[in-house]
Amino acid sequence: MRVLYATSECYPLVKTGGLADVSAALPPALNAAGADVRLLLPGYPAVLNGLSNLHEVGDLITDLPGCDRARLLLGRTPDGVLAYALDAPSLYNRPGNPYLGPDGQDWPDNAQRFAALAWAAAGFAAHASYDPWWRPDILHGHDWQAALIPAYLALRPDRFSGPTRPGTVLTIHNIAYQGNVGPWMLGELGLPSSSFRVDGVEYYGKVGFLKAGCYYADRLTTVSPTYAHEIQTAEHGTGLQGLLASRSAVLSGILNGVDYDIWDPSRDPHIAARYSPDDLGGKDSCKADLQSAFGLERRPDAPLAAVVSRLTWHKGLDLVLDAAPQWVAWGGQLVVLGSGDPASEAGFRQLAQTHPQSVGVRIGYDEPLSHRIQAGCDLFLVPSRSEPCGLTQMYALKYGSLPLVRRTGGLADSIIDANPAAANDGSATGFQFVGASVQELLWSLRRALTLYRKPDRWQATQRHAMTRDFGWSGPAEEYMELYRGLVP
Ligand code: ADP
Ligand code: GLC
Repeated sequence: MRVLYATSECYPLVKTGGLADVSAALPPALNAAGADVRLLLPGYPAVLNGLSNLHEVGDLITDLPGCDRARLLLGRTPDGVLAYALDAPSLYNRPGNPYLGPDGQDWPDNAQRFAALAWAAAGFAAHASYDPWWRPDILHGHDWQAALIPAYLALRPDRFSGPTRPGTVLTIHNIAYQGNVGPWMLGELGLPSSSFRVDGVEYYGKVGFLKAGCYYADRLTTVSPTYAHEIQTAEHGTGLQGLLASRSAVLSGILNGVDYDIWDPSRDPHIAARYSPDDLGGKDSCKADLQSAFGLERRPDAPLAAVVSRLTWHKGLDLVLDAAPQWVAWGGQLVVLGSGDPASEAGFRQLAQTHPQSVGVRIGYDEPLSHRIQAGCDLFLVPSRSEPCGLTQMYALKYGSLPLVRRTGGLADSIIDANPAAANDGSATGFQFVGASVQELLWSLRRALTLYRKPDRWQATQRHAMTRDFGWSGPAEEYMELYRGLVP
């Protein structure tokens, strides 16, 4: 089973969120399950510098949308997975964030940049394939950046037909990011004008990358079963709900996994002390370390809640901002690591200034610090309004930091609320609340505090949380099953 896995991010080369973690961990898990997966990544400087043994394959590519010359290079990721880099300097030779320019705005040519990625992926299906030595059975694209792959196969048979047609899979990691551009771009994107219709790439008067993928892909997946249902509703479908409902027979939700080589407190090099479910002692040192890193009062008995997140509206962190004064009044502490929306950044900075002993805030992106927070906190907060899967709450489980989450998407699928029944039978792993309101968040914080004040029960819940298995082998099997259904 040869799979080309086209993605715009892959940890540790380039990461803005969970997509990078998934792109790093799922391909090796698929390979372990018997697949032959190769990545296709945009040739950003970090990718060209980070892949080893890079060498050129195939001929010069001269027909990419928005770019007249590109090379296809093949190398290996630090995890040992073979990866193609699309070396198109006019599109990708820009340092820093893969999507945003120095002004913090989207690059104006993002449509061309990612259409080129999809075009290059589709090129593997053509008679004159971009790599004559390796022909994929499956083209698996991720998010809007790779969503035009199935559209190109369907709409440009003149360019992309080959001896066999690969199956196409599109995984939606977040439906809120869609890649919609004006219809005048059709020609430049290599899409025929006849495709600009409802039964095609048209989406509310624009060309919709994600819409096109949802329309043309053989199979659609998203990253949790609950989100697969939610995106068929008006509340979460952001306009695509009708199309997705009409394709529900080929839409499935596969919960993401955790890479325990990276996220495991018994061997994490970034944390102050190692610990495990059998010996939780080291977690106290991690908490003390975290309190000093953020200049908080060194109180072992203060319940320490934490956030590591992009600061965007759908993450619901305005609720944390509003609930924090009450949490502090109850004796709690809070640390926040994140960046994003300037108003949210300013709000958290202000909160820390008002409560310097109890609230610590770091605006920015810091991978090692995110590990220290996972290890050092007691409660890990993910109050998202929507959350396709969410990875940090699953990392928190492994670190014995009980997740407190809003019941949506993958948060609903991965955390078992400590309601009286679950607390009694020992199945609880965290706390959930339903309504996106400060009152409901505070109510669940109160419940967490009550459990925290019963150390035996708290530790039993921690141990149970730490032994839940969210490894990648189960999800990888589900993807394999899906791929098999597409190969004759
Ligand atoms: P999303 O992809 O929507 O941002 P996920 O929970 O799936 O949410 O993944 C977020 C990933 O990004 C996790 O690996 C998390 O630890 C990491 N992360 C988010 N913000 C930061 C930050 N400010 N510093 C370090 N890591 C961060
Ligand atoms: C997206 C989602 C997040 C998910 C991640 C990886 O960034 O917002 O919920 O965990 O993709 O699939």
